[in-house]
Amino acid sequence: MQSFTVQCAKTVQGDITVPGDKSISHRSIMFGSLATGTTKVTGFLRGEDALATLEAFRAMGIQIDDDGSTITIHGKGINGLSEPSDVLDCGNSGTSMRLLTGLLAGQGFFSVLTGDKYLRARPMKRVVGPLTRMGARILGRDGGEKAPLAIQGGKLTGIEYTSPVSSAQVKSALMLAGLYAEGTTTIYEPHLSRDHSERMLRHFGAHIESFEGGVRLTGGVELTAADIAVPADISSAAFFMVAALIVPGSELVIRNVGVNPTRTGILDILKGMGGDITLENEREQSGEPVADLRVRHSKLKAIEISGEVVPRAIDEFPVICVAAALAEGTTRVKDAAELRVKETDRIAAMAKNLRKAGVGIVETPDGMEITGAGKLAGCEAESFGDHRIAMSMLVAGLAASGSTTVDDTECIATSFPGFLNLLTEVAVR
Ligand code: S3P
Repeated sequence: MQSFTVQCAKTVQGDITVPGDKSISHRSIMFGSLATGTTKVTGFLRGEDALATLEAFRAMGIQIDDDGSTITIHGKGINGLSEPSDVLDCGNSGTSMRLLTGLLAGQGFFSVLTGDKYLRARPMKRVVGPLTRMGARILGRDGGEKAPLAIQGGKLTGIEYTSPVSSAQVKSALMLAGLYAEGTTTIYEPHLSRDHSERMLRHFGAHIESFEGGVRLTGGVELTAADIAVPADISSAAFFMVAALIVPGSELVIRNVGVNPTRTGILDILKGMGGDITLENEREQSGEPVADLRVRHSKLKAIEISGEVVPRAIDEFPVICVAAALAEGTTRVKDAAELRVKETDRIAAMAKNLRKAGVGIVETPDGMEITGAGKLAGCEAESFGDHRIAMSMLVAGLAASGSTTVDDTECIATSFPGFLNLLTEVAVR
């Protein structure tokens, strides 16, 4: 097991880019494969999660070339996939497994999805349940709750579904099934989750109706290939934003970051805490808004976080905990029970780690209360096999006395290859 140690940094400085957006990278492979014609993707995230999706589509007969800069997908149209001859391995990737479950439910073949021990422990009924209502035949462990999932594709019928959780994975799985379903599929969610599927389907020429509270599409859609420039992942940028905010004297520019409003909860939260973050050079790229971010060290104060901002910042909570640990006052997080079913239970994981760094944390079923510690103590932190926990605690280490070691850091490769080098590069000692 590989561990990594960081020392307290004097300041954080640099002009950097972080890797491509994970959600958009997954979708570029999926929709590019289902489109007719050749799609060229630049900025693709070569992290383990998105590569699991890429390999799954290769296994279903799609030619996908990678020359090191551009990914070229030779799409075969909406009915162009063929039966994979082996189990499809989604690794650690919830997005691969849940979106593929929706897609595979409507194919004319049999398939099996599995993943690593963390993914096999995560809930799948949230997609298996509504897909079954559409007519899908899916079997899994624990009554269909856990992978491996065996899917006998077949005829589907559109439904109206009100999701109890704001989840882009649930929404996108049902949209993918809806492409193949007879009639109309309508999905309602409590708050709007990331809308990359909707945007990319439109980019490929499909008609998708978005309205207050939901989205609707009618089966029989044809997709036409279109090139995609993937912006840098705001979820990866978040680690560097917080690093610059908490280490005195810091100034960092992060280029070409995706600032889709369904993902910018992190900006609202950090600015609400007093963070000095400015957006420069705002523009649009392949249907997605993009900007450069300038972040300067700031004196942070506690904030209340609940409601609609939660799904817009869902992957950033581990690093938000780090910002809160150095803010003045008690930050309260509510409505975030979803954090308990991510790659690990992120509420319990951050509480355990930050307590070791001397921070007072109270866990609640759907969130936590974090009282700023003024300063952090170096500690031995655990990643729990979760990339975002590992990266968050290494960021905390830049503002902690002495050294901070995080165990089991291989998991960082799922979303952010090159993170350790980049962190070392920007941290001035
Ligand atoms: C994702 C949706 C979110 C997010 C995940 C990526 C996606 O999951 O946490 O990292 O690409 O659709 P949920 O849909 O479970 O909220």
